Amino acid sequence: MKIAVFSSCEYDKEFLNRFNTGHDLTYYAVSLSEDTANLATGFDAICIFVNDQANAPVLNILNNLDIRLIVLRCAGFNNVDVAKANELGMRVVRVPAYAPEAVAEHAVALMMTLNRKTHKAYNRVREGNFSLERLTGFNLFGKKVAVIGTGLIGRALCRILKGFGCRIAAFDLYPNEELQKMGVVYDTLEDTLEGADVISLHCPLTEDTKHLINKRTLQLFKPGAMLINTSRGGLIDTKDVIQALKSGQIGYLGLDVYEQEGDLFFQNRSEDVIQDELITRLISFPNVLITSHQGFFTKEALEEIARISFANVDAFLQGTPLVNEVVI
Ligand code: NAI
Repeated sequence: MKIAVFSSCEYDKEFLNRFNTGHDLTYYAVSLSEDTANLATGFDAICIFVNDQANAPVLNILNNLDIRLIVLRCAGFNNVDVAKANELGMRVVRVPAYAPEAVAEHAVALMMTLNRKTHKAYNRVREGNFSLERLTGFNLFGKKVAVIGTGLIGRALCRILKGFGCRIAAFDLYPNEELQKMGVVYDTLEDTLEGADVISLHCPLTEDTKHLINKRTLQLFKPGAMLINTSRGGLIDTKDVIQALKSGQIGYLGLDVYEQEGDLFFQNRSEDVIQDELITRLISFPNVLITSHQGFFTKEALEEIARISFANVDAFLQGTPLVNEVVI
């Protein structure tokens, strides 16, 4: 099958080439948009990632080019208008669970770095500054952590946090029995947030969860709480979060995702003047730590993404059930 791979980096090429089951791959560094969709001319399928836009206008272009399969090399599919794709007869497949532990472990890395300020200590010591002033952290042991969304990643996080001795409160539309047996307490969103020392977001971005963290819900936070988002940027109203950082309502913010990340993340923009004033404001806070969507980024996850993506393509070609199909 001829597949156009959008938003491809060197590591995509390395892992996709290694696990390729015989397909003809062409790599494009650019992301998929209305401006670039025509690059799929002459291909049978496209392979895309989190910041490629497969909205209705893009899907119409792809449909005219006879693209029949959209291969998402990620779990989230909020960037694809799945209903439109289905209406046009295009199949959409994804990799539902390639790295739950990787993302959960990254969420913990953000928590622990913000808490114990190891990123600051590293720089200080390199400059011969061995002072401990303003490096005070807190014990995670005994603290209340609110986990919003207890699917594969949320569950992996709960298991890790149990080891730290945290009290875990959770909110999900479908409480998980395994976690309940482990002592995780499910509650309403409001009660889950209330009194939490750390809040970690792990639900998908949908119409219901867009700006789940906003002016109203931020008021429920314990003053000085830590907010971690490794899920999707749109879960947070960034402007409201900036206000909460300024007032001290949020004491620490760890982000691996950002609402407008499409123009920035996965690119080297170090020589550019960044025009996005929300991210530059966020970066300016001493208690904000941002990574550019690297939660999934482990060797194991890249292998799994490549392996499952080709299994999805092969199933499509062979007409066997598309177990990882996204249908609305
Ligand atoms: P999952 O589908 O296993 O779990 C999602 C959970 O959220 C489910 O339990 C579901 O019931 C719950 N949920 C759905 N709507 C909800 C709502 N309105 N309120 C509360 N809970 C709700 O997904 P998984 O694998 O745990 O991934 C979670 C998210 O993490 C993905 O949607 C994706 O956006 C993000 N992600 C981030 C990565 C990164 O590198 N930073 C990598 C992979 C995923």
